[in-house]
Amino acid sequence: MKILVTGGCGFIGSNFIRLILNETSHQVINLDSLTYAGNLENLKELEGNPHYQFLKGDIRDQKLAEKILSAGIDAIINFAAESHVDRSILDPQSFLQSNYFGCANLLESCRKFPVKIFLQISTDEVYGPFPKGLADEGCRLNPSSPYSASKAGADLLCFSYHKTFGLPVTIARLSNNYGPYQFPEKLIPLFITNALEDQPLPLYGDGLQVRDWIFVEDACQALLLILEEGRAGEIYNVGGGNQRTNLEVTRIILQELKRSKRLIKYIQDRPGHDRRYALDSNKIKKELGFAPALKFEDGLLLTVKWYQDHKKWWQKVKSGEYRLYYEGFYRQKLGLKKK
Ligand code: NAD
Ligand code: TYD
Repeated sequence: MKILVTGGCGFIGSNFIRLILNETSHQVINLDSLTYAGNLENLKELEGNPHYQFLKGDIRDQKLAEKILSAGIDAIINFAAESHVDRSILDPQSFLQSNYFGCANLLESCRKFPVKIFLQISTDEVYGPFPKGLADEGCRLNPSSPYSASKAGADLLCFSYHKTFGLPVTIARLSNNYGPYQFPEKLIPLFITNALEDQPLPLYGDGLQVRDWIFVEDACQALLLILEEGRAGEIYNVGGGNQRTNLEVTRIILQELKRSKRLIKYIQDRPGHDRRYALDSNKIKKELGFAPALKFEDGLLLTVKWYQDHKKWWQKVKSGEYRLYYEGFYRQKLGLKKK
C-alpha cells in the first residue's frame, strides 16, 4: 500500500513510520508542517530509503492535499495535530485549526480523490474524566479541554463523512503513549529529563490523577493491525491497561534515576484537569487479537534508558522554541519569576 502519514515527524507518527518501514513493504509519504513538535531528526535514519518520502506542508493546505492524493494514495493515517493539553489552555485556536479544520480538509480532499482507508488518530480524552470503570467505544463524548474538544469534533466530522459520503473512515482512540522521541513537555519525558538535570518535577494538584499508559511501539502495532484489518465506520480503543497515578509514575522515574523525591514540586492544578482516564480495549483484543507486549514498569525503564542515552536529542529540543515556552508558561507554572 501507498500510505500518506500526516504528522509523521512527531512522537507517535515517527515511531509508526519506523515500524511500517521495518516490518512491512508499504510505502510512506510523510506530510508534516514541522511545528515545534515536529523534528526531522526523529527519522534521520530513513533519509534515502526508497520506500519513504518526506513533504513539508500543512494538512490545512487543500491544493497540496489534493496534489498528493491525485498521484494515488491507498490509505491516510492522520496523526497531525497540536497535542499538548497545557498549550491548548494557552492557545485554543491553533488546536481547532490543525485538529479540526486540518482533518476536515483531508476528508474533503478524499471526496475528490478516494482512498481505501482513512484512519483518524484520536484519544481517550474525548470521553472526558471517567471516575470509575472503563470507557468503551459506545461511551458519550464529554471532552474537558480545548485539545480534547478539538479531537472529539474531528471524530464526529469523520463519521459524518462516512455516513453521508461513504468515506471508509476508521477511528483509533489511544490512551497516553510514552516511549522514545516524545517531546519533553509531556509528563514522562519532562520528568525524566528534569530529573537528569536535577530540576524540579512540577506535579499538578495532589498528583493522584490517573492515566492509562501504553508503550508507543505497542500502540503502533495496534495501529498497523487496524490499518490492515480494521473495519470502516468503526472505533477502536487502544489502551495499555496500565492505570497509574502521576505520583506513582514520578516515583518510579526518581527511583530509577536515583534522585531524591525532594525534586517533586506540587504546583497549582491544571484548569479543567481530568481526574482519571481508563479505556476498555476489549474490542480490538476480540476482533483483531491485539494485546500490548510490554508491561508498564518494563516500558518505563526502557524509556528512562532511552533518554539517558539520547541526551543530545532532548537537550537540543529543550533549547529550541521550547525555551520560550519554558521561560514563559513553564516558569510561571513552577511559581518562578520570569528571567
Ligand atoms: P506530537 O505533538 O508529538 O506530533 C504532532 C506532529 O504533527 C508534529 O510532527 C507536528 O509538526 C505535526 N503537525 C501539527 N500540526 C500540523 C499541521 N497542521 N499540518 C501538518 N503537520 C502538523 O503528537 P503525538 O504525541 O505524536 O500525537 C500524534 C497524534 O496522536 C495526535 O493526533 C494526538 O492527538 C494523538 N494522541 C496522542 C497521544 C499521546 O499520548 N501522545 C494519546 C492519544 C492520542
Ligand atoms: P500530559 O503528559 O500532559 O498528558 P495528558 O494531559 O494528555 O494526559 O499529562 C499527563 C498527566 O500528568 C496529566 O494528569 C497532567 C500531569 N502533569 C503534571 O502533573 N505535571 C506536568 O508538568 C505535566 C506536563 C503533566
